[in-house]
Amino acid sequence: MKVDGRHFRSIWLEPDGWTVGAIDQRRLPHEFAIVRLETADAAADAIRSMLVRGAPLIGATAAYGMALAVRDDRSDAGIDRAYEFLIAARPTAINLKWALDEMKRVLKPAPPSERVQIAYARAAEIAEEDVAINQGIGRHGLALIEQIAASKPPGEPVNVLTHCNAGWLATVDWGTATAPIYLAHDRGLKVHVWVDETRPRNQGASLTAWELGHHGVPHTVIPDNTGGHLMQHRMVDLAIVGTDRVAANGDVCNKIGTYLKALAAHDNGVPFYVALPSPTIDFSIDDGIRQIPIEQRSADEVAVMTGRTADGRVESVRIVPDGTPTANYAFDVTPARLVTGLITERGLLRPERAALASAFPERSTGH
Ligand code: MRU
Repeated sequence: MKVDGRHFRSIWLEPDGWTVGAIDQRRLPHEFAIVRLETADAAADAIRSMLVRGAPLIGATAAYGMALAVRDDRSDAGIDRAYEFLIAARPTAINLKWALDEMKRVLKPAPPSERVQIAYARAAEIAEEDVAINQGIGRHGLALIEQIAASKPPGEPVNVLTHCNAGWLATVDWGTATAPIYLAHDRGLKVHVWVDETRPRNQGASLTAWELGHHGVPHTVIPDNTGGHLMQHRMVDLAIVGTDRVAANGDVCNKIGTYLKALAAHDNGVPFYVALPSPTIDFSIDDGIRQIPIEQRSADEVAVMTGRTADGRVESVRIVPDGTPTANYAFDVTPARLVTGLITERGLLRPERAALASAFPERSTGH
């Protein structure tokens, strides 16, 4: 997507052919800073510190991280070591494991002399595949937005609520939840997005609002607790969120607070869609609520907020009393029964095993 008229992806190979470029998402929206990742350790740190984040981008970064690792050590043991420390960087998004498994699958049978070239080629393919997947999600999601637009009085926008950032910054390009929104906007449909701020790290307020603003999509940032009220007053036509892992039974794990939005949507008859790229499906898990590992992050993310002062300095301030315990569960699981449909690159699916398995047979039997 474009940043001030220039096309960017969230991750890329630098012209030197081996270092990896990325946007430091911890500094947005106040500063647009680019970093170069030169080692597998740096790629793992980038994932752990959330310099890069969002399930598909975590996967693409890990793939390039493996390429950087192989550049330093082409042996089987080197590949195994890199796999172990990259997979430990964050626990919830299954795209991390998916991408690393892919890298291992193509690297292990190859002779060491060819491994660097193969690693960079597969990492680039994983990035390209993500873009194509998101365009597919965009097309299928666009049909839903068009249907709703057709049922509304002429000139009234379709109001979409989204949570966290499942935009192009969370993927390689386009985003998952945002792909239908960008397509609809580009085709001249009137769309307006309610952007949940998404405490504690504020990915909605900092990243989704930044993206939508740069693309010219009308949007409004709301405190996380606002969605239920808006739904009661018919101010939300549909919700579209992203996901970090979908279990085989259709349970959806996403940023903390997603479940509460799904409950409010269910109570108010608002369609609740999840944009799901196939590498985010975990066919090895049958029960998302009990089996998906939920990341717990630092207390500081809850206790301290960062923002820009009136004179332009970026500062952090403490918002809870000293010594107060905080809890920071980063994700929750929305049961499949609360999900209206999964928007995948192969079409709109019911959130259930049979539908997922018949749309993605190559994945469902492969684990
Ligand atoms: O903790 P984050 O910022 O990595 O969490 C991101 C989300 O929860 C996204 O909704 C999810 O990864 C889907 S991204 C297309």
